[in-house]
Amino acid sequence: MIDNGYKGWLRYDRVNNAALAESYRQWTKHIVIAGEYGDGPLASAANELKMALDSMLGMQAEVQWTGTEDRHAGKAIVVGTLGSSAIIDSALTDVTAVSSVSAESYWLRTVNQGGRTYVLAAGVSASGALYAVFHLLRLIQSGESLESLQISESPKYSLRMINHWDNMDGSIERGYAGDSIFFRNNELLSGSGRIRDYARMMASIGINGIAINNVNVHRPETFLITERLLPQVAEIASVFREYGIKLYLSVNYAATIELGDLDTADPLDERVRAWWKEKAAEVYRHIPDFGGFLVKADSENRPGPFTYGRNHADGANMLGEALQPYGGLVLWRCFVYNCHQDWRDRSTDRARAAYDHFKPLDGQFMDNVVLQIKNGPMDFQVREPVSPLFGAMQKTNQMMEFQITQEYTGQQRHVCFLVPQWKEVLDFDTHHGGNGSTIKEIAAGNIHPYMHSGITAVSNIGDDDNWTGHHLAQANLYGYGRLIWNPDLTSEQIASEWTSLTFGADETVGEAVVSFLLESWSIYESYTSPLGVGWMVRPHYHYGPDIDGYEYSKWGTYHFADHLGIGVNRTKADGTGYAGQYESANAAVYESLESCPDELLLFFHHVPYTHVLHSGSTVIQHIYDTHFSGVERVAYWQDRWAKLEGRVDELRFRLVAGRLNEQLENAKEWRDIVNTYFYRKSGIEDARGRTIY
Ligand code: GCU
Repeated sequence: MIDNGYKGWLRYDRVNNAALAESYRQWTKHIVIAGEYGDGPLASAANELKMALDSMLGMQAEVQWTGTEDRHAGKAIVVGTLGSSAIIDSALTDVTAVSSVSAESYWLRTVNQGGRTYVLAAGVSASGALYAVFHLLRLIQSGESLESLQISESPKYSLRMINHWDNMDGSIERGYAGDSIFFRNNELLSGSGRIRDYARMMASIGINGIAINNVNVHRPETFLITERLLPQVAEIASVFREYGIKLYLSVNYAATIELGDLDTADPLDERVRAWWKEKAAEVYRHIPDFGGFLVKADSENRPGPFTYGRNHADGANMLGEALQPYGGLVLWRCFVYNCHQDWRDRSTDRARAAYDHFKPLDGQFMDNVVLQIKNGPMDFQVREPVSPLFGAMQKTNQMMEFQITQEYTGQQRHVCFLVPQWKEVLDFDTHHGGNGSTIKEIAAGNIHPYMHSGITAVSNIGDDDNWTGHHLAQANLYGYGRLIWNPDLTSEQIASEWTSLTFGADETVGEAVVSFLLESWSIYESYTSPLGVGWMVRPHYHYGPDIDGYEYSKWGTYHFADHLGIGVNRTKADGTGYAGQYESANAAVYESLESCPDELLLFFHHVPYTHVLHSGSTVIQHIYDTHFSGVERVAYWQDRWAKLEGRVDELRFRLVAGRLNEQLENAKEWRDIVNTYFYRKSGIEDARGRTIY
């Protein structure tokens, strides 16, 4: 079978076990959608059921709308919202009392009523019902029984978003899977079937907000909020709406100037404020449920309020005021730093920047402004500490920003399953608000009473047949959605779920893929930059080793390696003071060489190569060992994948094999360049006498 991966995890493969297929057919003969016939999420649920059941069970499922629940004998599936059907309501009398219930909660229950048996797929809202249907289809795809379902689900986070870094010329900043599915040649691709399929995939993992254009808003994208392009943006928003997803746009902070209407973008200038209010009204005329504006201001040469001597609260509130009447949000990014740092100046530290800029503004932002904070203080490195800003502001809405696209983690040519990394971030205890103030709870608004909070991430998809370039990179997209729906799922659960939906029930394939995914982040880390120091990648491209690439540039991302030692002294005692931005319990752990965890040692300390790690190894020997073993581990996985030939369909098998080959070659390059560099700097031999060039 030729399988190009386009269907992702919504493959809906035929159920081959005849008895099982027959038991499902008993249920799926009668499907009732309780609700008004329309084109919202309930209609999407009906369409998805029809398509999926045809594909999995070879049956043309008959879907009826409201009022026919009790007009058949035997079994039936009823899909609907609370209040839409007496059957749903009498089966779910208990649920609304549960405190975790939100507008997107859903239930899957098998119930007996009036001599008939039903599987109920019910949500508080139509989006919830759609999520219930996707869950039901996932159960069928995984061969689970429907005879006694008792499932209750509520999302942990209210904002569950994806950010696209797509440009209108069709390119994608940090995209490794082809071109944009939204734009080409400065036109919108509204009406493309691919956008609908994307919305389906996103709804199936619970995503409810998507910003479709790059945070770096160039001239063409500035026009997305004008009459010329809004009708087409609105078309995309309509497709999203059918899947419970709100559309967001990144806006150019200086749009007032760029669009030629004013000569200033000063947030306190009345003309600028009036302009944005009018602009918001215009956007909402086209898209009544528009999500809001995503803004990158005063960052990496983008315009912002600093130009006018104003601060970020002034800038964000100006937009907040414009969107407030419509319930729109301003997602204001905190990726603000001085990108022209001087290596002689040891007190300026890019890692400090977000906290230094934003923490003093706590309490000054409007209720509909949400600060969007990258998971680490630098930039999506393979290993960074958690941003000290997250949770440090008690009176300011915050959301976490992850990166699904593998900018610094192998660019979808290497396997690097990021769910374990994200889980570490979510499980980090900030101690802001006492013990147990984990990022997981803060982002849910459970520690400080944020009005709006949640999680977003930079997308890894493009118009490649398989969406993500590397087939296994789909696991990151799927895993992201599942994790931010329920961060208590384990990495193993998520990896297994994705693998069985994507590669089927073959246990040999399943075991191999799951173990590979789970090891992949550690493998990638082992042959790239060591012990949390980061970077060491080719400047701008961020792929492949270039140890001094950033060291001798103006970007301020240094490792300070010389013949005596390596690492950045970020202590309070005699470094940049960054460690002191954490709450005292964490600050103390990072400040001291004794307690700083090995994996972050060089992020916080400058040490000699002979420094002994907690692991017992010296820094230099650790660098050699991990770089040799990293390559061996990739070679192992390459062999193990080769043994799956014939078990995985040919096209996917070959594509993954090809990428593994590239990963191995690139890992060797990393190993040799890193090892040679540090051997020459330190003059210290590898204790095991291996080849170092
Ligand atoms: C990184 C990335 C840029 C991106 C920026 C951002 O620096 O390399 O491409 O624009 O992050 O998050 O704004």
